[in-house]
Amino acid sequence: MNIDYKVEIQRLKKKLDVTVAAHYYQRDEVFEAADITGDSLELARKCKADSNPWVVFCGVGFMGQSVKIIAPEKRVLMPKLACCAMARMIDSSYFDDSVKYMTDRGVAKEDILPITYINSDASVKAKVGEMGGMVCTSSNAFKIIEKGLASGKKILFVPDRCLGQNFAIQMGLKSCVIGEGECDPKKADIICFNGFCSVHQLFTVDDIEFYKNRYPGIKIAVHPECDPRVVLAADFSGSTSQLIKYVNGLDPEQKVAVGTEYNLVNRMRKKNTYVLSSTKPECPTMNETTLEDLYKTLKSIEDNEPVNEVTVDPDIAKYANLALERMLAVE
Ligand code: 13P
Ligand code: SF4
Repeated sequence: MNIDYKVEIQRLKKKLDVTVAAHYYQRDEVFEAADITGDSLELARKCKADSNPWVVFCGVGFMGQSVKIIAPEKRVLMPKLACCAMARMIDSSYFDDSVKYMTDRGVAKEDILPITYINSDASVKAKVGEMGGMVCTSSNAFKIIEKGLASGKKILFVPDRCLGQNFAIQMGLKSCVIGEGECDPKKADIICFNGFCSVHQLFTVDDIEFYKNRYPGIKIAVHPECDPRVVLAADFSGSTSQLIKYVNGLDPEQKVAVGTEYNLVNRMRKKNTYVLSSTKPECPTMNETTLEDLYKTLKSIEDNEPVNEVTVDPDIAKYANLALERMLAVE
């Protein structure tokens, strides 16, 4: 029997008390089936405010996990429990090692304020929450770091070295990366863990020069997970939602090359919009979720046998929630 997934998904969404959420990097057919879309921060806020008891989250693990932590009463299912590769680069013991790196070099633990990018596991968020720290996303990192600095402490930024360095540059602060050259925590304001997004490392200054030579006057817009040299050479950097807003606000005749994940850039691609890379910048884990997976997950609710439910250890959830709520309290 051939199942028309699109038709079945609509039927199930009408019948069940369920909200389908999807990140912009999802495949088009999955993205189009969603009730809620947005960047990481918007998705977290919108899912928390939503009244349905069930959330089917199409994205990567840390996104569904964050919804479960800030809205524990909800049943959160993920069609694929796909893990962001950057989030995998740090766990709680690497986090402890990073704190030790700083204390070994003369910074007292009480003088460290950790900030974790939302692209991290709940266990890392819990460590951060326990130390009085916060979560940030690419759309609110400036405000969160600003708030962190007001404490007068050194910022330990995990796991994305690029995001940490890019905001340090924007804010006129000194940063260094643990394990890269000389990184003296006493001499820097922001001490970064050495994690990165392999998808966003694909964009280079050479790509920017290629487009600028080919189309004089072209604008370059990139995600802050890109290398600092790329962000410095670009005209604009921002979260996925901020990139969409920037591109939509340009004159239709203005050419723009965008440096972020392929599904999003391809969806925004109009006559004058280009992918800032000669290699297709696809996020493998975001691409894992198919329409069939979404259908099967919704069907599992109808059949009273929910699959791939997100659960978080209560002790971890308690402290991770502190770090997430401190972020959500910042407007
Ligand atoms: P946004 O918060 O900008 O949507 O980014 C999520 C992400 O994983 C980018 O790679
Ligand atoms: Fe993670 Fe990079 Fe994929 Fe974003 S694009 S979900 S940071 S691996």
